[in-house]
Amino acid sequence: MGVNVLIVGTGAREHALTWKVLQSPLSRAVFCAPGNAATGAIAVNVPVPTTDVDGIARLAHEREIDLTIVGPEGAVAAGVVDRLTSVGRLALGPTAAAGRIESSKVFAKTLMQKVGVPTPAFAVFTEASAAKAYVQKQGRPFVVKADGLAKGKGSIVPDDIPETLEAIDTFMLSRAVGAAADQVLLEERVEGREVSLLALVDGERVIPMVPACDYKRALDDDRGPNTGGMGGYSPPGFFTDDDVRAAVATVFQPVVDELRARGTPYRGCLYAGLIQRPTGVEVLEFNARFGDPETQVILPRLSGDVLPAFQAAAAGNLSPESLSWSDRVSVGVVLASRGYPGHYQTGHPVEGLSRLEPDVFAFHGGTVAAPDGYRTAGGRVLTLVALGDTLADARDRVYRSAQRVSFEGMSYRRDIAQREITASVAS
Ligand code: GLY
Repeated sequence: MGVNVLIVGTGAREHALTWKVLQSPLSRAVFCAPGNAATGAIAVNVPVPTTDVDGIARLAHEREIDLTIVGPEGAVAAGVVDRLTSVGRLALGPTAAAGRIESSKVFAKTLMQKVGVPTPAFAVFTEASAAKAYVQKQGRPFVVKADGLAKGKGSIVPDDIPETLEAIDTFMLSRAVGAAADQVLLEERVEGREVSLLALVDGERVIPMVPACDYKRALDDDRGPNTGGMGGYSPPGFFTDDDVRAAVATVFQPVVDELRARGTPYRGCLYAGLIQRPTGVEVLEFNARFGDPETQVILPRLSGDVLPAFQAAAAGNLSPESLSWSDRVSVGVVLASRGYPGHYQTGHPVEGLSRLEPDVFAFHGGTVAAPDGYRTAGGRVLTLVALGDTLADARDRVYRSAQRVSFEGMSYRRDIAQREITASVAS
């Protein structure tokens, strides 16, 4: 029989999902909407935008799609899953209502508060003047977050009070992210080590994936502007199996139980951005989707067939055996266009992709296919990911491969996973 799969999205995350699904002996045909140059080389791209709910429903009908995997948050918020499930089609992703865990930070924080999930203290404002008065009265800086979806630009981490006031103005007076900042949260700044934990959720059960770390700043040593992610690795040595179990019990399960109790069960990949503190983990954010670049470093570590697990999450019958992992570890480095996340040039030939070492994968996020190969077409052009027996091995392998790839203006961070290796040498 075989399973027809549709993957919604355009990035390196969706390339990784497509690559993994194609390894399943159960997959029959794999379509991407709209996909990218690299998914077009291994699957069938169909030019339907990710938020075109009608178009995706039509495509699912025409191609007899058995399972749709929803990548970006915009598609979740647009109601792609609601539509597909209303016509009886399986979809891996939450409904728009359950996806409010990402599309409204106020919703997520109040839900966490209600069910006792640890998260930094916060206050909500609809007026800039009231928010600024609060900061002055408290006499310290706060993280400033827009309530709604803001394409990665909805969170500012100021260093002092003037920067906090400026951030409030940026969101509420200059309207830098529009209506997403009709409500703004001021969140307590907390120190600790950050980790991303993604889990498959079937409405009731939570099956965690292996943890990962991502690097959001553009430059080495976490300097420079925030980006969509410059690399990552899995697993972080500081986040043990016990920590994963504790996070499932104290973070994921209460949230999943509450969403079910409200009549909006969560199905799909649930991503918690956690910070590890001496008192335990706290939640910095939830995402109602697979992470990018976490997915690119996690999926190569997954052994066995991914498709039954994805189907089980979508259908509501996950079991603890649904996911199994190899002992190999991974390091991923994003090769970006010079200037990203600001202005950058595109259209440059990408050389060297055929010269990667074994067990190194190039997931495309910003390329187009040209007669002579791929050309750059975005800021985060490729995520190179290496598997290795140790993080040091994977790191060496990915950086050696990065030296074999080239395009005009190629830039990347040199310190991905370095802190883990330094820490393991020191201990
Ligand atoms: N890695 C951050 C994100 O996917 O939003």
